[in-house]
Amino acid sequence: MLDVGTDHALLPIALVLRGKINRAIASDIRDGPVGIAEKNISRHGLSDMITVVKADGLAGMEKFKPTDIVIAGMGGEMISKILGAKAAEWSKREGTRFILQPMTRQHLLRRFLAENGFLTEHNSLAEDTDGRIYEIIVCRYTAESYFISDAEAIGGSMGRDSPDDLFSRHIALRIRQLRRRAEGILKTSGDDSRRAELSAIEKVVGELEEMKPRINE
Ligand SMILES: C[S@@+](CC[C@H](N)C(=O)[O-])C[C@H]1O[C@@H](n2cnc3c(N)ncnc32)[C@H](O)[C@@H]1O
Repeated sequence: MLDVGTDHALLPIALVLRGKINRAIASDIRDGPVGIAEKNISRHGLSDMITVVKADGLAGMEKFKPTDIVIAGMGGEMISKILGAKAAEWSKREGTRFILQPMTRQHLLRRFLAENGFLTEHNSLAEDTDGRIYEIIVCRYTAESYFISDAEAIGGSMGRDSPDDLFSRHIALRIRQLRRRAEGILKTSGDDSRRAELSAIEKVVGELEEMKPRINE
């Protein structure tokens, strides 16, 4: 497993300790995290199983031949940038699974994946102890681009494997955010100049609302 942007290497350490993986590469672009990752790994006695590398995105990582590439805890645009870089070309091959966890702008990442031939296998949700919901996208490169609607990009597809109540809360949160955006537009522009934007938001809200009743099917 390759953990891009590993920070303190918490994920590879946890996965090795739980016996989920037997080998990991923990990479980060900054010296600080690289140093802390090395210390944490050595403290757990895992230096022979987890290698720490300083790297920008996927540049130079092909030599480790990872089967699973995790990019977690970054914005959706940053993850798209890393996957779309020339240095990431080697990873677009059969047998590579991408596990992506965007913190923000998840819809932009889903659109990037659809337009650039990454087929989503799972859209999962996870919740931390503070009730914050995290989106996880598992995908593979197929080279075939496909269409996704705005609602799918924002909500994630129905082919998910998350508890229904979590999905329901996630959709409700996205609807609230869109409604707030529409209210903001209505307050700031008294004329009709942003009518198209408002009706686009209304359309997406309607489609997200549609997702809700299907939850318990
Ligand atoms: C917020 S931390 C996320 C840590 C961990 N992956 C997680 O999910 O908790 C983001 C990390 O990504 C690193 N990072 C940012 N851009 C990067 C890039 N282009 N290549 C590698 N690491 C990067 C940062 O240095 C930082 O340590």
